[in-house]
Amino acid sequence: MRDIGMIGAGYVGLVTGTCFAEMGHRVFVMDNNEEKIRVLKSGGVPIYEPGLEGMIKRNVEAGRLFFTSSLQEVVDNCEVIFIAVGTPPRDNGEADLSAVERVSAGIAKMMKGYKLIVEKSTVPVQTGKWIKRTVSMFNRNNVPFDVASNPEFLREGSAISDFLKPDRVVIGVETERASKILREIYEPLGAPIVETDIESAEIIKHASNSFLAMKISFVNALSVICERAGADIKKVTEGMGYDPRIGKLFLEAGVGFGGFCFPKDLRAFIRIAEKLGYDFGLLREVERINEEQKMRFVAKVREALWNVGGKKIAVWGLSFKPNTDDMRFAPSIDIINALLKEGAEIHAYDPIAMDNARRVFGDTIVYGEDKYSVLEGAYALCLITEWDEFKDVDLDRVMELMETPIVIDGRNVFDPAVMKDKGFYYVGVGRR
Ligand code: UDX
Repeated sequence: MRDIGMIGAGYVGLVTGTCFAEMGHRVFVMDNNEEKIRVLKSGGVPIYEPGLEGMIKRNVEAGRLFFTSSLQEVVDNCEVIFIAVGTPPRDNGEADLSAVERVSAGIAKMMKGYKLIVEKSTVPVQTGKWIKRTVSMFNRNNVPFDVASNPEFLREGSAISDFLKPDRVVIGVETERASKILREIYEPLGAPIVETDIESAEIIKHASNSFLAMKISFVNALSVICERAGADIKKVTEGMGYDPRIGKLFLEAGVGFGGFCFPKDLRAFIRIAEKLGYDFGLLREVERINEEQKMRFVAKVREALWNVGGKKIAVWGLSFKPNTDDMRFAPSIDIINALLKEGAEIHAYDPIAMDNARRVFGDTIVYGEDKYSVLEGAYALCLITEWDEFKDVDLDRVMELMETPIVIDGRNVFDPAVMKDKGFYYVGVGRR
């Protein structure tokens, strides 16, 4: 078992660090945000992720998981240090890597014995090279070190099982020593380990996320064709998905992808390609289709209501997907803002993301107590996030509460035939 340092107690750092502790390692999670560390030390968890709170508690009690705001403490205690600090997008879509540089320089100045520095944050290809250069510059005593890339593929809402049961683990290394350490850490998970050079590991992350985003935009574009041709996207994707070369997963048409990964990573990859002298037009189109998909939803509301201004509209679901409270780049933001601009009165409900939503919308919308209360007197119901509790509803009650029974379903949660039977004006995505 090893002493592992995790720099950055954000989503990736916290989940990954806690899971390493769960595997039996002694883990030091460091963040320079002292308030965050104070919360973690007092048993609080700054993000919502199913299972995480209990796992943190268990490992803290077992003496395997520590929180600190001191980089020195991590460097003194750990031979392997993962960098999982934020790499927020700049205005032009490029990732801001100043935190990665700061941490790399800090480690270099403090290290006394061999260190394996592993980049875990989502970073542009060639960041590994920059980390190596930075560490070398500040490494005045010529302490031996290695740099490695170990991209994460965690999905919010299922991050713990994604970590403990990964499809694959990617390690980009330059030396036998680094390879041995990372293999020893990951082999107990029993997943295939793909060992590459650092640049290839970095590109695997860009390529995977962009490909998945492309799959979603493809299906969303297809949904438009289905609507116009009188076909059903659910049936079309079912028919496609049996082909193992296509696969059944990630073929759900909807209101477009959101979250902190896909939109940001896609932009960043387009920028990286540009810098490398290649216009990745395919990915620019993936982005465009995604933006259009949100506005297409707004157009459906407009078409159903005739005049949007002054009408009460109920919204179910605000987070960018179910089982998370994350509102970052959530499609609900653009959709609600567009409806507000047309003068609609929005009454929204989300099972978990209400607090974060308040930070986004302030008092421009009304926050409901539960899924039924927002429906009272509403001219339309817009379903934006497919939480389980929206799948199991009393449709008669919905009908009774609403002023006009209009349902615009952005996630194809309801069966169009059932809805029409009940007397709803129902519009899904790409459905007959
Ligand atoms: C994603 C990647 O899946 C993960 O591997 C990477 O590490 C981080 O980015 P995440 O953003 O947590 O994870 O969510 P994910 O479940 O992939 O969904 C992303 C977005 O795509 C959501 O807005 C979701 O609603 C949308 N989506 C997903 C669809 O619209 N249709 C689908 O079929 C699948």
